[in-house]
Parts: sequence; C-alpha cells; structure tokens
Amino acid sequence: MSATEKKIVLITGATGGLGTAMCKKLYDDGYIVVANYRNEEKAKEWQANLKKEGYDIAIYYADVADFDSCGKMIQQIADDIGHVGVLVNNAGITKDGAFRKMSYENWKAVISTNLDSVFNCTRHVINYMIENGFGRIINISSVNGQRGQFGQSNYSAAKAGMHGFTKTLAMEVANKGVTVNTISPGYIGTDMVMAVKEEIRNQIIAQIPVGRLGGTEEVAYLVSFLASEHASFITGANLSINGGQHVY
Ligand code: CAA
Repeated sequence: MSATEKKIVLITGATGGLGTAMCKKLYDDGYIVVANYRNEEKAKEWQANLKKEGYDIAIYYADVADFDSCGKMIQQIADDIGHVGVLVNNAGITKDGAFRKMSYENWKAVISTNLDSVFNCTRHVINYMIENGFGRIINISSVNGQRGQFGQSNYSAAKAGMHGFTKTLAMEVANKGVTVNTISPGYIGTDMVMAVKEEIRNQIIAQIPVGRLGGTEEVAYLVSFLASEHASFITGANLSINGGQHVY
C-alpha cells in the first residue's frame, strides 16, 4: 500500500480541463479523489465518462464563492469518506474586459470565485490538517497573477491575491506538517484559453518561448509532486509553469 493511498484529495472546479487532468493523475497516484462541481448535469456526465476510463471519482456540489456552501460540502465529505488531506484550490472563472468598461458584477464574480473561494475552502480543512500533522494546500493561480494582462484586472487581482494568502498561511502552519503553495500556470490548452479570440490567442502563443500552449497533464504532474511527501520542504512557493513566457 503506498503512502498516498489513504489520503483524500479535494479538487475544486474539478470538471474543467486542468481539474480533470489533476483528478486522473492523483487517482493514478493512489489518492481517494473528490471532485467539487457547481453544474450538476455536467458533473454527472463527467463522472460517468471518467468511470468508463476506469476512474472512480466522487463528486460533491459547492458554490466555492459561498463560505457556508463550502462548509457543508467539506462536512459531507468528512461524514461520507473522511477528512481532506490535500486541497487543490483550482476553481476559477474569467470575465475579461478593459477596466474602463468593467462592471462591478464582473469584478465581484471573479474575486468571489477565484479568491474568496480560497478562504472558503481552506478555512474548513485547515484545522483537521493541523490536528493530523499533515496537509497540503495547493492554490492554482496564473502567470497573469504574476504579471499584468490587458483585460484581466479582476482576474490578475484575484490570482495575485492567492499567492499573498499562500505566503502567510505557509508561515503560520509550517511547523504543523502542512505546506501551502501556489502554482502559476501560463497559457494551457483548456476551454478557458480556447475561449480567447483566435487572433489574440495566436499573438499570445507567439510570446511563449517554448512555442506552444501547455498541456493540462503537465500542470497535473506538478500538483502530484507538491501533494507528495517528497515536497515537504517546499512551502510558501510560487511555482511557474508557463513555457518561459514570464521569467523574472
Ligand atoms: N494591449 C493594448 N491595448 C489593447 C489590447 C492589448 N492586448 N487589447 C485591446 N487593446 C486596446 C484596443 O485596441 C482598444 O483601443 P482603443 O480604445 O484605442 O481603440 C482598447 O484597448 C479596448 O479594446 P476592446 O474594446 O477590444 O477591449 P475589450 O474590453 O473588449 O477587451 C479583451 C478586449 C476581450 C480583453 C481582449 O483584449 C482579450 O481577449 N485579451 C486577452 C485576455 C486574456 O489573455 N485572457 C486570458 C484568458 S485565459 C486565462 O485567464 C487562463 C490563464 O490563467 C492564463
């Protein structure tokens, strides 16, 4: 039995491109994988498709922008399966647009879903991790939280905020066996990136020294490593995976 076999990993926004790759990789690693979703119809179809591929993944509803909804989900997971040992704060949305035209709703939606969610989920799992003397919090940020991107003042603010959170919480729980890290992917071949107009997307790809979009599984392997016992000395870090698009 591997060391990871009994650990429960919760991935928020799991039915998207990055989330799906993470679920598969961590399942292959031997974790009990729990996938959070917001759209039930999509999630059930997603779960059934993964089942056909041999992945047995539990799905739990929560609106990650809502603190109580996250609390209910995490309590239900604890009652049904056990306490979460690895939390991947992956849920995120975009509502791109030049700031001078940005509505309050588009600001608020992105901050709530991408940043408040990190508090909403982490707050409900952290004390069990501390009690257990083991935990992993992995926050999926973005290259556009490390630098600016035209049209993403809401998204960049939320993603930069995630790493501020990472740095402080990492310090607070470092001596409790809990690590807290940020991963900042660049442009990965997900629906979110494919939704950017082709002409603009091609201009962006031209700025990536590796010369292509990243693969979802490339991010999943990094999550897998950070979740493992081998990564116990990595905490408070912001790991870039962007094909050289942003080096600093
Ligand atoms: N740089 C400088 N100026 C720009 C610009 C750019 N990249 N893009 C547009 N402009 C200018 C326009 O020329 C225009 O100028 P004028 O007013 O002088 O004519 C002005 O800015 C406004 O342009 P638009 O009316 O087109 O602006 P908009 O509000 O409709 O927004 C946009 C345009 C939708 C944001 C578009 O620029 C875009 O899609 N940009 C890419 C955003 C992006 O990279 N999103 C990433 C999504 S994936 C993701 O987020 C995952 C991840 O983590 C990486």
